[in-house]
Amino acid sequence: MSSSSLKVAILGMGNVGQNFVRILSESGNHIKEACGKEIEVSFAADSREIVRVDPRRTYYDILSAKKAGDLRILGETVTMDEVLASGIDILIDVSSASKDGNRELQIFRSAIDRGIDIVTANKSPLALHWAELIPYAEERGIRLLHEATVAGGVPVFNFVKYSCGPSKVLKFRGIVSLTANFVLKMMRSGTSFGDAVKKAQEIGVAETDYTDDTSGLDGARKTVILANALFGKAMSLKDIKYSGIPEVDPDEIKRNGDRLRLFTEISLEKGQVEVSTGFGLLDADDFLLTLPESALGYEVTTDNNGILRVSSAHDGPRETASAVMNDVMILAREAKGNKV
Ligand SMILES: NC(=O)c1ccc[n+]([C@@H]2O[C@H](COP(=O)([O-])OP(=O)(O)OC[C@H]3O[C@@H](n4cnc5c(N)ncnc54)[C@H](OP(=O)(O)O)[C@@H]3O)[C@@H](O)[C@H]2O)c1
Repeated sequence: MSSSSLKVAILGMGNVGQNFVRILSESGNHIKEACGKEIEVSFAADSREIVRVDPRRTYYDILSAKKAGDLRILGETVTMDEVLASGIDILIDVSSASKDGNRELQIFRSAIDRGIDIVTANKSPLALHWAELIPYAEERGIRLLHEATVAGGVPVFNFVKYSCGPSKVLKFRGIVSLTANFVLKMMRSGTSFGDAVKKAQEIGVAETDYTDDTSGLDGARKTVILANALFGKAMSLKDIKYSGIPEVDPDEIKRNGDRLRLFTEISLEKGQVEVSTGFGLLDADDFLLTLPESALGYEVTTDNNGILRVSSAHDGPRETASAVMNDVMILAREAKGNKV
């Protein structure tokens, strides 16, 4: 590895993984100038195989290989152990969330053991194994950045950490899941559940397996990560209740108009952290109602920075991939000795 580059392995070549490579191909020079390192994709993986990317291959080649349905065009297939033993600097997890998070837990622990930093958009390992993973990484001086796990491209964790440093978070209220709200909106205007999901998939908002989103599970995973990262909890998914679109009465969807949304609320009340996620009615003057269903955003109440409202006008896999890239760039700056 040349000291001017960072070697990364990308697990997952779906909507987010491909957009990550696209951003590198279109903004590689800017990224290198901004963080002082060239990002080198050394390995790429999908559900079928993990391949070592031949250094002569371009970003365009990586995208073409995925489009052709065969990553092996890029180089030899390898095992996860070989990836982790290869001297990569960062493991990027943009793969589908597993139900129990165990696959990711094992991979992340092995990466941490080998001194590899991790950037993840995949929520499962953190929503299910926070208490095992975060201290394990911290004790070993390994960074496990996860900005993209919640609210796509809208900064939450980096914003609170780097821009609200002196403050304690007292309350968080947010719309942090796109798919469920997007599907609800379409159903309100008469589209069937199935057609609404299909549309969400077409524009890259819904994952191939959309059930996590529509069942409320995806929102619940995000809520757990928020409670842990912003309020110092060590919760797991089993600690919270959630519900999904199949449980919402179709008449209720029509009757309540756009006030019915999937949202998350977490607050610190008399030393206790209260957590809720699910479908509910927002007040007509609620800031969250100003967000269109293609957007994500939140309101955070702090002791010193007051109440802050952060949102996007539009969110999707490109914006999520950009949040993943930003975490990679933070690590690149740190690798240069410039602590962020
Ligand atoms: N889409 C968003 O805007 C967004 C926002 C925030 C967070 N996320 C999270 O980011 C991750 C990726 O989302 P996405 O929209 O890109 O999903 P996606 O389009 O469904 O892509 C998932 C990718 O993961 C691959 N994969 C599945 N199992 C794997 C395994 N065991 N090892 C390696 N790769 C595996 C899939 O392989 P195949 O190609 O072979 O199917 C696919 O390439 C998910 O965890 C999601 O929850 C997404």
